[in-house]
Amino acid sequence: MIEFRQRYGPWALVAGASAGLGAAFAEQLAARGLNLLLVARRQDALDHLATGLRSGHGIEVRTLAADLGRPDLQAIVRQFTDGLDVGLLVYNAAHSVIGPFLDQPVEEHLRVVDVNCRGPLLLAHLLGAAMAKRGRGGIVLMTSTAGSQGGPWISTYAASKAFNLLLAEALWDELGSRGVHVVACRAGATRTPGYEASKPKPSRVPLLEPGFVADRALAALGRRPSVVPGWFYALSAFLMNRLMPRRMAIRIMGRATRKLYG
Ligand SMILES: NC(=O)c1ccc[n+]([C@@H]2O[C@H](COP(=O)([O-])OP(=O)(O)OC[C@H]3O[C@@H](n4cnc5c(N)ncnc54)[C@H](OP(=O)(O)O)[C@@H]3O)[C@@H](O)[C@H]2O)c1
Repeated sequence: MIEFRQRYGPWALVAGASAGLGAAFAEQLAARGLNLLLVARRQDALDHLATGLRSGHGIEVRTLAADLGRPDLQAIVRQFTDGLDVGLLVYNAAHSVIGPFLDQPVEEHLRVVDVNCRGPLLLAHLLGAAMAKRGRGGIVLMTSTAGSQGGPWISTYAASKAFNLLLAEALWDELGSRGVHVVACRAGATRTPGYEASKPKPSRVPLLEPGFVADRALAALGRRPSVVPGWFYALSAFLMNRLMPRRMAIRIMGRATRKLYG
């Protein structure tokens, strides 16, 4: 734990921190002794989480209520982190659009690009530069098993997750040589408010717990470019992305998503 704090502390920023996986990352990082900068839209949820983390772990916590899709994102995060030594970035937030591509307004697809692609790019560039300068740090980009092949009915979301996977893989190599560990967390279905709000139909696919996913992602830092938490999803990813023809993987994703949300 002390080693983790020395390598990735003293401050960590979690983007999309007020609930679900983001709150689980905050909890795991607090338990490892890092001070936290928490960003999400809902100030009340951030305040509630921050109070619990301060009293439970004796760490410092600061919050910023902001939409990660806003045009001046880099400027407000620069101000929020000014004077602080931020050694870890977790970009967790995501916007998703479910349903046939042409049935959704193009503005909704563009919002996915802003929150899921532009956001992590801006923050990885801003905070990654400072980490590379000091020669140590870490970046976790939340992606999904949905980002490893085209995703019918979640087309832009899946594409945005592919963006994060490839960005993390490239930075794993580029920044790794400068002491900054980068990992993409390719999560499968996880029991979060975000997942439940999407109202999936009952299915036999196992749901992961947010604490487990966050723990596996942090454990993978400095070890590999990406991680798929949980044996079920690791096996499915191996079958779909290594053994199957690509068109078959796309069809399976499409069938599964239509069944969940059709
Ligand atoms: N849950 C799953 O099954 C699953 C599976 C694979 C991958 N993932 C990935 O895991 C990550 C978390 O997913 P989740 O939906 O389950 O969410 P979550 O962790 O339950 O919550 C999303 C967090 O992001 C914040 N957020 C969302 N949009 C935001 C915005 N525009 N600006 C600022 N904060 C924002 C939300 O807070 P506010 O509402 O307060 O803003 C919340 O704190 C995503 O990257 C997702 O792609 C999830």
